[in-house]
Amino acid sequence: MSLTPQHQDQPVLTNYKPGDAAGEGVTPPELVLVLDFGAQYTQLIARRIRECHVYCEILPFDTSLDVIKTRGAVGLILSGGPSSVYDDDAPQIDKAIYDLGLPILGICYGMQAMAHDLGGKVSAATLKEFGKTQLSVQDPTVLFEGLNTDLVCWMSHGDTVEEAPPGFTVSASTESCPVAAMIDTNRRFYAVQFHPEVVHTPWGTEVIRGFVEKVCGTRGLWKMESFIDQQVRLIREQVGEHQVVCGLSGGIDSCTVAALVHKAIGDQLVCIFVNHGLLRKGEAEDVQRKFAAAFNINLITVDAEERFLRRLAGVIDPEQKRSIIGEEFVRVFEEESCKLKNATFLAQGTLYPDVIESGMGKAAKIKTHHNVALPEDMNFKLVEPLRFLFKDEVRAVAEELGLPTDMVWRQPFPGPGLAIRITGEVNKERLDLLRSADWIIIDEIKRAGLYRKVWQSFAVLIPTKSVGVMGDQRTYAYPIVLRAVTSEDAMTADWARLPYEVLDRISNRIVNEVPGVNRVVLDITSKPPATIEWE
Ligand code: XMP
Repeated sequence: MSLTPQHQDQPVLTNYKPGDAAGEGVTPPELVLVLDFGAQYTQLIARRIRECHVYCEILPFDTSLDVIKTRGAVGLILSGGPSSVYDDDAPQIDKAIYDLGLPILGICYGMQAMAHDLGGKVSAATLKEFGKTQLSVQDPTVLFEGLNTDLVCWMSHGDTVEEAPPGFTVSASTESCPVAAMIDTNRRFYAVQFHPEVVHTPWGTEVIRGFVEKVCGTRGLWKMESFIDQQVRLIREQVGEHQVVCGLSGGIDSCTVAALVHKAIGDQLVCIFVNHGLLRKGEAEDVQRKFAAAFNINLITVDAEERFLRRLAGVIDPEQKRSIIGEEFVRVFEEESCKLKNATFLAQGTLYPDVIESGMGKAAKIKTHHNVALPEDMNFKLVEPLRFLFKDEVRAVAEELGLPTDMVWRQPFPGPGLAIRITGEVNKERLDLLRSADWIIIDEIKRAGLYRKVWQSFAVLIPTKSVGVMGDQRTYAYPIVLRAVTSEDAMTADWARLPYEVLDRISNRIVNEVPGVNRVVLDITSKPPATIEWE
Protein backbone atom coordinates (compact mmCIF):
# COMPACT_ATOMS: atom_id res chain seq x y z
CA MET A 1 0.00 0.00 0.00
CA SER A 2 1.31 3.43 -0.84
CA LEU A 3 2.65 5.74 1.83
CA THR A 4 1.51 9.19 0.83
CA PRO A 5 -0.19 10.54 -2.25
CA GLN A 6 2.47 11.89 -4.58
CA HIS A 7 3.34 11.88 -8.20
CA GLN A 8 6.32 11.11 -10.34
CA ASP A 9 6.43 13.68 -13.07
CA GLN A 10 9.64 12.99 -14.88
CA PRO A 11 9.81 13.25 -18.66
CA VAL A 12 9.22 10.13 -20.70
CA LEU A 13 12.00 10.05 -23.20
CA THR A 14 13.14 6.57 -23.90
CA ASN A 15 12.13 3.56 -25.85
CA TYR A 16 12.70 1.33 -22.84
CA LYS A 17 11.18 -2.10 -22.88
CA PRO A 18 10.79 -3.97 -19.60
CA GLY A 19 13.55 -6.54 -19.58
CA ASP A 20 16.16 -4.32 -21.19
CA ALA A 21 19.57 -4.92 -19.71
CA ALA A 22 22.02 -2.33 -18.38
CA GLY A 23 23.42 -2.13 -21.86
CA GLU A 24 23.51 -4.61 -24.67
CA GLY A 25 26.22 -7.14 -24.08
CA VAL A 26 26.49 -6.31 -20.41
CA THR A 27 25.59 -8.83 -17.77
CA PRO A 28 25.80 -7.22 -14.37
CA PRO A 29 27.89 -9.42 -12.08
CA GLU A 30 25.25 -9.48 -9.35
CA LEU A 31 21.68 -8.54 -10.15
CA VAL A 32 18.70 -8.27 -7.83
CA LEU A 33 15.32 -7.80 -9.51
CA VAL A 34 12.40 -5.97 -7.94
CA LEU A 35 9.00 -7.04 -9.24
CA ASP A 36 6.79 -3.99 -8.97
CA PHE A 37 3.19 -4.23 -7.78
CA GLY A 38 2.67 -0.48 -8.28
CA ALA A 39 4.00 1.01 -5.05
CA GLN A 40 4.96 4.64 -5.19
CA TYR A 41 8.23 3.96 -3.43
CA THR A 42 9.50 0.99 -5.44
CA GLN A 43 12.36 3.13 -6.73
CA LEU A 44 13.58 3.51 -3.17
CA ILE A 45 13.97 -0.26 -2.84
CA ALA A 46 16.25 -0.24 -5.89
CA ARG A 47 18.23 2.67 -4.46
CA ARG A 48 18.76 0.94 -1.13
CA ILE A 49 20.03 -2.17 -2.90
CA ARG A 50 22.41 -0.13 -5.00
CA GLU A 51 23.66 1.52 -1.82
CA CYS A 52 24.87 -1.99 -0.95
CA HIS A 53 26.85 -1.87 -4.27
CA VAL A 54 24.57 -4.44 -5.84
CA TYR A 55 23.01 -3.73 -9.22
CA CYS A 56 19.22 -3.71 -9.16
CA GLU A 57 16.49 -3.28 -11.74
CA ILE A 58 12.73 -2.88 -11.46
CA LEU A 59 10.42 -4.93 -13.66
CA PRO A 60 6.61 -5.11 -13.72
CA PHE A 61 5.09 -7.84 -11.53
CA ASP A 62 3.83 -9.73 -14.61
CA THR A 63 7.25 -10.05 -16.24
CA SER A 64 7.44 -13.51 -17.79
CA LEU A 65 9.28 -16.34 -16.14
CA ASP A 66 11.58 -16.59 -19.19
CA VAL A 67 12.69 -12.95 -18.88
CA ILE A 68 13.36 -13.41 -15.18
CA LYS A 69 15.36 -16.57 -15.84
CA THR A 70 17.45 -15.07 -18.63
CA ARG A 71 18.35 -12.03 -16.54
CA GLY A 72 20.32 -14.28 -14.19
CA ALA A 73 19.25 -12.57 -10.96
CA VAL A 74 20.65 -13.71 -7.63
CA GLY A 75 17.52 -12.65 -5.75
CA LEU A 76 14.02 -11.21 -6.16
CA ILE A 77 12.09 -8.61 -4.22
CA LEU A 78 8.30 -8.31 -4.37
CA SER A 79 7.39 -4.66 -3.84
CA GLY A 80 4.47 -3.06 -2.05
CA GLY A 81 1.40 -1.96 -3.96
CA PRO A 82 -2.03 -0.37 -3.52
CA SER A 83 -4.12 -3.55 -4.01
CA SER A 84 -5.60 -6.17 -1.71
CA VAL A 85 -4.87 -9.81 -2.59
CA TYR A 86 -8.65 -10.33 -2.54
CA ASP A 87 -9.36 -7.69 -5.22
CA ASP A 88 -10.76 -9.16 -8.43
CA ASP A 89 -7.91 -7.71 -10.41
CA ALA A 90 -5.22 -8.16 -7.73
CA PRO A 91 -1.78 -8.23 -9.37
CA GLN A 92 -0.21 -11.68 -9.19
CA ILE A 93 3.18 -13.04 -10.12
CA ASP A 94 3.61 -16.28 -12.02
CA LYS A 95 3.54 -18.92 -9.21
CA ALA A 96 6.37 -20.80 -10.95
CA ILE A 97 8.65 -17.99 -9.76
CA TYR A 98 8.54 -19.56 -6.28
CA ASP A 99 10.06 -22.73 -7.78
CA LEU A 100 13.08 -21.04 -9.36
CA GLY A 101 15.14 -21.68 -6.23
CA LEU A 102 15.90 -17.94 -5.91
CA PRO A 103 15.80 -16.08 -2.58
CA ILE A 104 12.72 -13.82 -2.36
CA LEU A 105 11.96 -10.88 -0.08
CA GLY A 106 8.34 -9.66 0.05
CA ILE A 107 7.61 -6.12 1.22
CA CYS A 108 4.12 -5.00 2.35
CA TYR A 109 1.76 -6.08 -0.47
CA GLY A 110 4.64 -8.31 -1.65
CA MET A 111 4.48 -10.10 1.70
CA GLN A 112 0.70 -10.46 1.54
CA ALA A 113 0.90 -11.82 -2.02
CA MET A 114 3.56 -14.29 -0.90
CA ALA A 115 1.47 -15.41 2.09
CA HIS A 116 -1.63 -15.75 -0.09
CA ASP A 117 0.20 -17.67 -2.85
CA LEU A 118 1.94 -20.07 -0.46
CA GLY A 119 -1.01 -21.08 1.73
CA GLY A 120 -1.06 -18.50 4.53
CA LYS A 121 -4.03 -16.40 5.63
CA VAL A 122 -4.42 -12.72 4.74
CA SER A 123 -7.29 -10.66 6.11
CA ALA A 124 -8.50 -7.09 6.22
CA ALA A 125 -7.02 -5.71 9.44
CA THR A 126 -9.47 -4.46 12.05
CA LEU A 127 -6.97 -1.71 12.80
CA LYS A 128 -5.10 -0.32 9.82
CA GLU A 129 -1.54 0.71 10.55
CA PHE A 130 -0.17 3.89 9.01
CA GLY A 131 2.99 5.72 10.01
CA LYS A 132 5.47 5.04 12.80
CA THR A 133 4.71 1.75 14.56
CA GLN A 134 6.37 -0.18 17.39
CA LEU A 135 7.81 -3.52 16.24
CA SER A 136 8.80 -6.45 18.53
CA VAL A 137 11.39 -8.84 17.16
CA GLN A 138 11.06 -12.48 18.22
CA ASP A 139 13.69 -13.98 15.93
CA PRO A 140 16.54 -11.82 14.59
CA THR A 141 17.72 -14.38 12.00
CA VAL A 142 19.01 -12.55 8.89
CA LEU A 143 16.57 -9.64 8.86
CA PHE A 144 17.16 -8.17 12.32
CA GLU A 145 20.66 -9.37 13.20
CA GLY A 146 22.54 -6.80 15.28
CA LEU A 147 19.39 -4.67 15.80
CA ASN A 148 17.37 -4.07 18.96
CA THR A 149 14.38 -6.29 19.73
CA ASP A 150 12.14 -3.23 20.06
CA LEU A 151 12.19 -1.03 16.98
CA VAL A 152 10.19 1.73 15.34
CA CYS A 153 9.22 0.95 11.76
CA TRP A 154 7.04 2.63 9.12
CA MET A 155 3.80 0.87 8.27
CA SER A 156 1.19 1.59 5.65
CA HIS A 157 -1.30 -1.21 5.18
CA GLY A 158 -4.91 -2.22 5.38
CA ASP A 159 -4.63 -6.02 4.93
CA THR A 160 -2.59 -8.14 7.32
CA VAL A 161 -1.05 -11.61 7.24
CA GLU A 162 -2.94 -13.41 10.00
CA GLU A 163 -1.25 -16.78 9.61
CA ALA A 164 2.11 -17.39 8.00
CA PRO A 165 2.15 -20.08 5.28
CA PRO A 166 3.43 -23.59 6.07
CA GLY A 167 7.22 -23.67 6.38
CA PHE A 168 7.44 -20.05 7.65
CA THR A 169 8.11 -18.88 11.18
CA VAL A 170 7.12 -15.48 12.53
CA SER A 171 10.10 -13.28 13.35
CA ALA A 172 8.41 -9.99 14.34
CA SER A 173 4.99 -8.59 15.23
CA THR A 174 3.27 -5.33 16.21
CA GLU A 175 0.30 -4.72 18.46
CA SER A 176 -2.24 -5.13 15.67
CA CYS A 177 -0.20 -7.16 13.21
CA PRO A 178 0.61 -10.69 14.43
CA VAL A 179 2.90 -11.43 11.47
CA ALA A 180 4.97 -8.31 10.78
CA ALA A 181 7.91 -10.37 9.48
CA MET A 182 8.17 -14.03 8.51
CA ILE A 183 10.91 -16.27 7.20
CA ASP A 184 11.37 -19.68 5.61
CA THR A 185 15.12 -20.24 5.74
CA ASN A 186 14.93 -23.56 3.83
CA ARG A 187 13.40 -22.01 0.74
CA ARG A 188 15.16 -18.68 1.43
CA PHE A 189 11.84 -16.76 1.48
CA TYR A 190 11.65 -13.64 3.68
CA ALA A 191 8.90 -11.06 4.11
CA VAL A 192 8.20 -7.89 6.05
CA GLN A 193 4.95 -5.97 6.44
CA PHE A 194 6.70 -2.65 7.13
CA HIS A 195 8.63 -0.54 4.62
CA PRO A 196 12.39 -0.99 5.10
CA GLU A 197 13.11 1.23 2.07
CA VAL A 198 11.80 4.52 3.52
CA VAL A 199 13.81 6.87 5.72
CA HIS A 200 11.16 6.60 8.44
CA THR A 201 12.42 3.07 9.06
CA PRO A 202 15.92 4.30 9.92
CA TRP A 203 17.46 0.81 10.23
CA GLY A 204 15.58 -0.46 7.14
CA THR A 205 18.65 -0.54 4.90
CA GLU A 206 20.14 -3.12 7.29
CA VAL A 207 17.16 -5.40 6.63
CA ILE A 208 17.67 -5.05 2.89
CA ARG A 209 21.43 -5.48 3.28
CA GLY A 210 20.87 -8.64 5.37
CA PHE A 211 18.75 -10.13 2.60
CA VAL A 212 21.02 -9.06 -0.25
CA GLU A 213 24.34 -9.99 1.35
CA LYS A 214 23.56 -12.90 3.63
CA VAL A 215 20.80 -14.60 1.67
CA CYS A 216 21.58 -13.70 -1.94
CA GLY A 217 25.32 -13.92 -1.23
CA THR A 218 26.30 -10.72 -3.04
CA ARG A 219 29.77 -9.21 -2.64
CA GLY A 220 29.09 -5.58 -3.62
CA LEU A 221 30.58 -5.52 -7.14
CA TRP A 222 28.53 -2.57 -8.50
CA LYS A 223 31.13 0.23 -8.55
CA MET A 224 31.25 3.47 -10.53
CA GLU A 225 34.76 2.91 -11.93
CA SER A 226 33.64 -0.31 -13.59
CA PHE A 227 30.47 1.40 -14.79
CA ILE A 228 32.52 4.07 -16.57
CA ASP A 229 34.83 1.54 -18.27
CA GLN A 230 31.85 -0.50 -19.37
CA GLN A 231 29.96 2.50 -20.79
CA VAL A 232 33.03 3.87 -22.60
CA ARG A 233 33.36 0.53 -24.39
CA LEU A 234 29.64 0.42 -25.22
CA ILE A 235 29.53 4.00 -26.51
CA ARG A 236 32.50 3.33 -28.81
CA GLU A 237 30.85 0.20 -30.16
CA GLN A 238 27.50 1.94 -30.66
CA VAL A 239 28.79 5.11 -32.29
CA GLY A 240 31.66 3.93 -34.48
CA GLU A 241 32.96 6.81 -36.63
CA HIS A 242 29.82 8.95 -36.35
CA GLN A 243 29.36 12.30 -34.64
CA VAL A 244 27.30 12.62 -31.45
CA VAL A 245 25.49 15.81 -30.46
CA CYS A 246 24.65 16.56 -26.86
CA GLY A 247 22.50 19.38 -25.51
CA LEU A 248 24.43 20.86 -22.61
CA SER A 249 22.39 22.71 -19.99
CA GLY A 250 24.99 23.05 -17.27
CA GLY A 251 23.07 20.61 -15.08
CA ILE A 252 24.71 17.54 -13.66
CA ASP A 253 23.02 15.03 -15.98
CA SER A 254 23.89 16.61 -19.30
CA CYS A 255 27.42 17.53 -18.13
CA THR A 256 28.06 13.97 -16.99
CA VAL A 257 26.78 12.52 -20.25
CA ALA A 258 28.99 14.93 -22.20
CA ALA A 259 32.05 14.05 -20.12
CA LEU A 260 31.41 10.32 -20.43
CA VAL A 261 30.80 10.41 -24.18
CA HIS A 262 33.84 12.64 -24.60
CA LYS A 263 35.96 10.14 -22.71
CA ALA A 264 34.73 7.48 -25.13
CA ILE A 265 34.95 9.25 -28.50
CA GLY A 266 36.75 12.59 -27.95
CA ASP A 267 36.27 15.05 -30.83
CA GLN A 268 33.40 13.12 -32.38
CA LEU A 269 31.25 14.74 -29.68
CA VAL A 270 29.75 18.18 -30.31
CA CYS A 271 27.90 19.88 -27.45
CA ILE A 272 25.26 22.53 -28.03
CA PHE A 273 24.50 25.04 -25.30
CA VAL A 274 21.35 27.08 -25.92
CA ASN A 275 21.09 30.28 -23.91
CA HIS A 276 17.36 30.93 -23.92
CA GLY A 277 17.66 34.05 -21.77
CA LEU A 278 15.90 32.32 -18.89
CA LEU A 279 19.07 31.39 -17.03
CA ARG A 280 20.30 32.69 -13.69
CA LYS A 281 22.80 35.52 -13.26
CA GLY A 282 26.15 34.67 -14.87
CA GLU A 283 25.04 31.10 -15.58
CA ALA A 284 25.68 31.01 -19.33
CA GLU A 285 29.25 32.29 -19.00
CA ASP A 286 29.85 30.10 -15.97
CA VAL A 287 28.82 26.87 -17.69
CA GLN A 288 30.93 27.60 -20.75
CA ARG A 289 33.99 28.64 -18.75
CA LYS A 290 33.85 25.72 -16.34
CA PHE A 291 33.18 23.18 -19.01
CA ALA A 292 35.94 24.48 -21.25
CA ALA A 293 38.36 24.45 -18.31
CA ALA A 294 37.49 20.90 -17.28
CA PHE A 295 37.29 19.34 -20.74
CA ASN A 296 38.49 20.24 -24.17
CA ILE A 297 35.12 19.62 -25.79
CA ASN A 298 33.65 21.01 -29.05
CA LEU A 299 31.02 23.42 -27.78
CA ILE A 300 28.58 25.45 -29.89
CA THR A 301 26.89 28.25 -27.93
CA VAL A 302 23.69 29.70 -29.31
CA ASP A 303 22.42 33.01 -27.99
CA ALA A 304 18.69 32.63 -28.47
CA GLU A 305 17.40 35.04 -25.81
CA GLU A 306 15.61 37.31 -28.21
CA ARG A 307 13.66 34.65 -30.05
CA PHE A 308 12.55 32.97 -26.80
CA LEU A 309 11.39 36.22 -25.20
CA ARG A 310 9.59 37.21 -28.36
CA ARG A 311 7.61 33.98 -28.32
CA LEU A 312 6.89 34.27 -24.60
CA ALA A 313 5.58 37.83 -24.79
CA GLY A 314 2.05 38.06 -23.36
CA VAL A 315 1.91 34.38 -22.34
CA ILE A 316 0.74 33.71 -18.78
CA ASP A 317 -0.40 30.10 -18.81
CA PRO A 318 2.29 27.83 -17.26
CA GLU A 319 1.69 24.91 -19.61
CA GLN A 320 1.76 27.22 -22.61
CA LYS A 321 5.07 28.67 -21.43
CA ARG A 322 6.50 25.19 -21.09
CA SER A 323 5.34 24.09 -24.50
CA ILE A 324 6.66 27.23 -26.19
CA ILE A 325 10.06 26.86 -24.54
CA GLY A 326 10.22 23.14 -25.35
CA GLU A 327 9.29 23.72 -28.97
CA GLU A 328 11.63 26.66 -29.47
CA PHE A 329 14.44 24.71 -27.90
CA VAL A 330 13.91 21.89 -30.37
CA ARG A 331 13.93 24.39 -33.27
CA VAL A 332 17.24 25.92 -32.22
CA PHE A 333 18.75 22.54 -31.54
CA GLU A 334 17.53 21.23 -34.87
CA GLU A 335 18.96 24.19 -36.78
CA GLU A 336 22.35 23.80 -35.16
CA SER A 337 22.64 20.06 -35.45
CA CYS A 338 21.58 20.13 -39.11
CA LYS A 339 24.74 22.12 -39.80
CA LEU A 340 26.79 19.12 -38.70
CA LYS A 341 27.55 16.61 -41.46
CA ASN A 342 27.84 13.31 -39.70
CA ALA A 343 25.68 13.73 -36.60
CA THR A 344 23.75 10.49 -36.34
CA PHE A 345 23.52 10.20 -32.59
CA LEU A 346 22.05 12.29 -29.81
CA ALA A 347 23.39 11.87 -26.28
CA GLN A 348 20.83 12.48 -23.54
CA GLY A 349 20.96 12.52 -19.77
CA THR A 350 17.97 10.25 -19.28
CA LEU A 351 18.02 8.72 -15.79
CA TYR A 352 16.53 5.52 -14.39
CA PRO A 353 13.42 7.19 -12.90
CA ASP A 354 12.53 8.38 -16.44
CA VAL A 355 13.09 4.87 -17.78
CA ILE A 356 10.94 3.25 -15.12
CA GLU A 357 8.18 5.74 -15.79
CA SER A 358 8.24 5.15 -19.52
CA GLY A 359 8.06 1.40 -18.93
CA MET A 360 5.23 1.29 -16.44
CA GLY A 361 4.15 4.72 -15.25
CA LYS A 362 0.49 5.30 -14.52
CA ALA A 363 0.93 8.65 -12.78
CA ALA A 364 -1.20 11.72 -13.42
CA LYS A 365 0.40 14.51 -15.44
CA ILE A 366 1.06 17.48 -13.20
CA LYS A 367 3.49 19.42 -15.38
CA THR A 368 5.06 18.89 -18.76
CA HIS A 369 8.74 18.70 -17.99
CA HIS A 370 10.80 20.28 -20.68
CA ASN A 371 13.87 18.37 -21.73
CA VAL A 372 15.76 17.70 -24.93
CA ALA A 373 13.21 15.73 -26.91
CA LEU A 374 13.61 15.84 -30.65
CA PRO A 375 11.11 15.24 -33.42
CA GLU A 376 11.04 11.66 -34.67
CA ASP A 377 11.75 12.64 -38.27
CA MET A 378 15.21 13.84 -37.26
CA ASN A 379 16.24 10.22 -37.11
CA PHE A 380 18.73 10.61 -34.33
CA LYS A 381 19.73 7.43 -32.59
CA LEU A 382 19.92 7.84 -28.85
CA VAL A 383 22.97 7.43 -26.66
CA GLU A 384 21.78 7.29 -23.05
CA PRO A 385 24.59 6.00 -20.87
CA LEU A 386 22.93 7.09 -17.61
CA ARG A 387 19.61 5.42 -18.22
CA PHE A 388 20.12 2.89 -15.46
CA LEU A 389 21.42 5.32 -12.83
CA PHE A 390 19.84 7.29 -10.03
CA LYS A 391 20.80 10.92 -9.39
CA ASP A 392 23.21 10.14 -6.56
CA GLU A 393 24.96 7.58 -8.76
CA VAL A 394 25.27 10.17 -11.54
CA ARG A 395 27.00 12.45 -9.04
CA ALA A 396 29.41 9.61 -8.17
CA VAL A 397 30.17 9.08 -11.88
CA ALA A 398 30.67 12.84 -12.34
CA GLU A 399 33.16 12.94 -9.47
CA GLU A 400 34.98 9.91 -10.84
CA LEU A 401 35.18 11.65 -14.26
CA GLY A 402 36.68 14.75 -12.64
CA LEU A 403 33.86 17.26 -13.12
CA PRO A 404 34.37 20.36 -10.96
CA THR A 405 32.83 19.98 -7.49
CA ASP A 406 30.43 22.89 -7.86
CA MET A 407 29.13 21.39 -11.09
CA VAL A 408 28.63 18.02 -9.42
CA TRP A 409 26.71 19.54 -6.53
CA ARG A 410 24.84 22.24 -8.43
CA GLN A 411 21.24 22.44 -7.31
CA PRO A 412 18.74 21.21 -9.93
CA PHE A 413 17.49 23.91 -12.29
CA PRO A 414 14.47 23.30 -14.55
CA GLY A 415 14.76 23.33 -18.34
CA PRO A 416 12.25 26.21 -18.74
CA GLY A 417 14.40 28.15 -16.28
CA LEU A 418 13.22 31.38 -14.70
CA ALA A 419 10.14 31.48 -16.94
CA ILE A 420 8.37 29.10 -14.52
CA ARG A 421 9.51 31.15 -11.52
CA ILE A 422 7.62 34.23 -12.66
CA THR A 423 3.89 33.84 -12.33
CA GLY A 424 2.32 35.73 -15.19
CA GLU A 425 4.08 37.26 -18.17
CA VAL A 426 7.81 36.80 -18.63
CA ASN A 427 9.79 39.76 -19.91
CA LYS A 428 13.37 41.05 -19.72
CA GLU A 429 12.67 43.51 -16.91
CA ARG A 430 11.05 40.90 -14.68
CA LEU A 431 13.75 38.38 -15.52
CA ASP A 432 16.53 40.80 -14.57
CA LEU A 433 14.80 41.63 -11.31
CA LEU A 434 14.33 37.94 -10.49
CA ARG A 435 17.94 37.17 -11.45
CA SER A 436 19.24 39.77 -8.98
CA ALA A 437 17.09 38.50 -6.13
CA ASP A 438 17.91 34.88 -6.93
CA TRP A 439 21.63 35.61 -6.94
CA ILE A 440 21.40 37.07 -3.42
CA ILE A 441 19.56 34.00 -2.14
CA ILE A 442 22.15 31.61 -3.57
CA ASP A 443 24.98 33.79 -2.31
CA GLU A 444 23.65 33.86 1.26
CA ILE A 445 22.78 30.16 1.26
CA LYS A 446 26.33 29.39 0.14
CA ARG A 447 27.87 31.73 2.73
CA ALA A 448 25.85 29.98 5.45
CA GLY A 449 27.21 26.60 4.26
CA LEU A 450 23.71 25.42 3.39
CA TYR A 451 23.95 25.04 -0.38
CA ARG A 452 24.40 21.27 -0.33
CA LYS A 453 22.07 20.77 2.64
CA VAL A 454 19.03 22.07 0.80
CA TRP A 455 17.84 20.44 -2.40
CA GLN A 456 16.95 23.75 -4.07
CA SER A 457 16.83 27.37 -2.96
CA PHE A 458 15.63 30.13 -5.24
CA ALA A 459 13.50 33.22 -5.80
CA VAL A 460 10.05 33.43 -7.32
CA LEU A 461 8.53 36.65 -8.62
CA ILE A 462 4.82 37.32 -8.24
CA PRO A 463 4.04 40.35 -10.34
CA THR A 464 1.50 41.82 -7.92
CA LYS A 465 2.56 45.06 -6.23
CA SER A 466 2.21 45.99 -2.56
CA VAL A 467 2.82 49.16 -0.57
CA GLY A 468 5.95 49.76 1.48
CA VAL A 469 7.92 52.62 2.95
CA MET A 470 11.60 53.30 2.31
CA GLY A 471 13.53 56.43 3.34
CA ASP A 472 10.27 58.14 4.32
CA GLN A 473 8.94 57.50 0.83
CA ARG A 474 6.01 55.35 -0.14
CA THR A 475 6.93 52.42 -2.39
CA TYR A 476 4.68 50.32 -4.52
CA ALA A 477 6.67 47.35 -5.74
CA TYR A 478 6.90 43.57 -6.23
CA PRO A 479 7.35 40.90 -3.55
CA ILE A 480 9.92 38.15 -3.92
CA VAL A 481 9.09 34.68 -2.64
CA LEU A 482 11.93 32.71 -1.09
CA ARG A 483 11.53 29.00 -1.84
CA ALA A 484 13.96 26.56 -0.23
CA VAL A 485 13.28 22.84 0.08
CA THR A 486 14.91 19.71 1.35
CA SER A 487 14.36 16.51 -0.60
CA GLU A 488 15.91 13.18 -1.53
CA ASP A 489 14.75 12.99 -5.09
CA ALA A 490 12.27 15.86 -5.79
CA MET A 491 9.35 13.41 -5.72
CA THR A 492 8.46 14.71 -2.28
CA ALA A 493 9.96 17.73 -0.52
CA ASP A 494 9.75 19.68 2.70
CA TRP A 495 10.28 23.41 3.14
CA ALA A 496 13.76 24.03 4.54
CA ARG A 497 13.96 25.38 8.08
CA LEU A 498 16.53 28.08 7.31
CA PRO A 499 18.04 29.88 10.32
CA TYR A 500 16.38 33.22 11.13
CA GLU A 501 19.69 35.07 10.67
CA VAL A 502 20.01 33.74 7.12
CA LEU A 503 16.41 34.68 6.35
CA ASP A 504 17.04 38.10 7.79
CA ARG A 505 20.15 38.71 5.66
CA ILE A 506 18.40 37.51 2.51
CA SER A 507 15.41 39.74 3.14
CA ASN A 508 17.51 42.80 3.96
CA ARG A 509 19.77 42.42 0.99
CA ILE A 510 16.97 41.83 -1.50
CA VAL A 511 14.94 44.90 -0.54
CA ASN A 512 18.06 47.05 -0.35
CA GLU A 513 19.89 45.80 -3.42
CA VAL A 514 17.11 44.97 -5.90
CA PRO A 515 15.23 48.00 -7.20
CA GLY A 516 11.57 47.20 -7.75
CA VAL A 517 11.24 44.89 -4.73
CA ASN A 518 9.93 46.06 -1.35
CA ARG A 519 8.93 42.80 0.36
CA VAL A 520 10.27 39.25 0.83
CA VAL A 521 7.97 36.37 1.78
CA LEU A 522 8.75 32.76 2.63
CA ASP A 523 7.07 29.72 1.06
CA ILE A 524 6.43 27.18 3.83
CA THR A 525 4.62 24.50 1.85
CA SER A 526 5.82 20.94 1.38
CA LYS A 527 5.40 18.80 -1.75
CA PRO A 528 2.73 17.49 -1.82
CA PRO A 529 0.46 19.44 -1.71
CA ALA A 530 2.54 22.13 -3.48
CA THR A 531 5.20 21.43 -6.09
CA ILE A 532 8.77 22.68 -5.78
CA GLU A 533 8.52 25.13 -8.68
CA TRP A 534 5.61 27.56 -8.74
CA GLU A 535 4.54 26.66 -12.27
P1 XMP B 1 8.20 20.16 -9.26
O1 XMP B 1 8.02 21.61 -9.46
O2 XMP B 1 7.37 19.33 -10.19
O3 XMP B 1 9.71 19.85 -9.65
O4 XMP B 1 8.03 19.73 -7.83
C1 XMP B 1 10.40 18.68 -9.34
C2 XMP B 1 11.83 18.85 -9.77
O5 XMP B 1 11.93 18.92 -11.19
C3 XMP B 1 12.46 20.18 -11.58
N1 XMP B 1 11.67 20.60 -12.73
C4 XMP B 1 12.07 20.46 -14.00
N2 XMP B 1 13.22 20.00 -14.52
N3 XMP B 1 12.42 20.43 -16.68
C5 XMP B 1 13.39 20.00 -15.88
O6 XMP B 1 14.45 19.58 -16.39
C6 XMP B 1 11.24 20.92 -16.23
O7 XMP B 1 10.38 21.33 -16.99
C7 XMP B 1 11.07 20.93 -14.82
N4 XMP B 1 10.05 21.32 -14.02
C8 XMP B 1 10.45 21.12 -12.73
C9 XMP B 1 12.32 21.09 -10.39
O8 XMP B 1 13.28 22.12 -10.39
C10 XMP B 1 12.48 20.11 -9.25
O9 XMP B 1 13.85 19.83 -8.99
